[in-house]
Amino acid sequence: MKKKKIALIPGDGIGPEVISEGVKVLKAIEQVDANLSFEFTEYPWGCEYYLEHGKMMDENGLDQLKDTDAIYLGAVGYPGVPDHISLWDLLLKIRKGFDQYVNLRPVTLLNPSLTPLKNKTEKEIDFLVIRENSEGEYAGAGDWLFKGKPEEVVLQTGVFSRKGTERIIRYAFEEARKQKKTLTSISKANALNYSMVFWDEVFDEVGKEYPDVVTYSYLVDAASMFFVQQPERFEIVVTSNLFGDILTDIGAAITGGMGLATGANINPEREFPSMFEPVHGSAPDISGKGLANPIAAIWSVAQMMEFFGEEKWSELIVTTIKELLEENEHLTPDLGGNATTEELGNQFIKLLTGQDAITY
Ligand SMILES: NC(=O)c1ccc[n+]([C@@H]2O[C@H](COP(=O)([O-])OP(=O)(O)OC[C@H]3O[C@@H](n4cnc5c(N)ncnc54)[C@H](O)[C@@H]3O)[C@@H](O)[C@H]2O)c1
Repeated sequence: MKKKKIALIPGDGIGPEVISEGVKVLKAIEQVDANLSFEFTEYPWGCEYYLEHGKMMDENGLDQLKDTDAIYLGAVGYPGVPDHISLWDLLLKIRKGFDQYVNLRPVTLLNPSLTPLKNKTEKEIDFLVIRENSEGEYAGAGDWLFKGKPEEVVLQTGVFSRKGTERIIRYAFEEARKQKKTLTSISKANALNYSMVFWDEVFDEVGKEYPDVVTYSYLVDAASMFFVQQPERFEIVVTSNLFGDILTDIGAAITGGMGLATGANINPEREFPSMFEPVHGSAPDISGKGLANPIAAIWSVAQMMEFFGEEKWSELIVTTIKELLEENEHLTPDLGGNATTEELGNQFIKLLTGQDAITY
């Protein structure tokens, strides 16, 4: 019996609504799989916690999380707390503190009806974006000089270390080799004449060790166009923190929207726990109404299962999402249906286990 400790950080807005559907999936799995069990610890951290305690998480929050096998996070951010505080004091603190330097964001069309692109099917839209997740443009380095004065200057410095750049590129090459796929690097060396020239050099250098992997390199502006016009060009993509963040929103747009986009924050050495989360935010415009689509959060559970080495469960979850989309009867309003978050989640459990939804 494998027992996995999972830290739950539902967070703000629709975070708790979608995480509770994902937890139902985990509980259903342990009910039907005698070899797996999960121990959950829930943390109340987020914007409400901030308004009450003046901090997004406990000072020793990372210590409290460090012995878990995975962190399952909903979303953080809410009107009333500046976004840079909610992001930096919780989400980025965990990603950086636990050196989760790989962000895996699949751009996979799960049903042809979901894409706004003409004549594109599941065959043409199926790739994985590997985003650098620990430094780059989101290193938090810079300065704010002469604040409020006419000579005011703001500096936001991108930080691209050899260690950080090499390890993400190497991870992507390994993944491409393992999956026998092509690898595309996306950068911007024409304009960013230090950081991205360096990125391209490291990509070429590391690439010499992987002669079996076919590679491409695009500028980020051209790549944005190809994401929309010819997504079939991509199999595995490696890119920087900022570019990956923006490009994967295009990825979400061509595969059905934010309600379907998932992301895993991985510490490949497993020295620290990895974190699984839907890509979307707390969606204050729809929170508390049962309108949130929990599919992205459920897909995060599939990524978690894959990370645990439970590939069969991971594949089954993704197949079941496809079945649910195909059935087209229990979908949330963002997908043109009128089911609530909970109704979609219950139908998912029914399809996954063959049982009616159990109330936990
Ligand atoms: N990972 C995170 O925790 C994360 C990511 C992005 C934004 N945020 C935070 O979330 C807050 C809101 O940000 P935003 O509005 O820019 O982005 P958002 O992702 O919360 O919402 C963007 C749009 O997509 C819709 N949407 C998002 N998820 C959905 C779902 N599961 N089902 C149906 N519709 C969905 C929303 O209703 C909204 O119209 C901000 O405070 C922001 O900082 C957090």
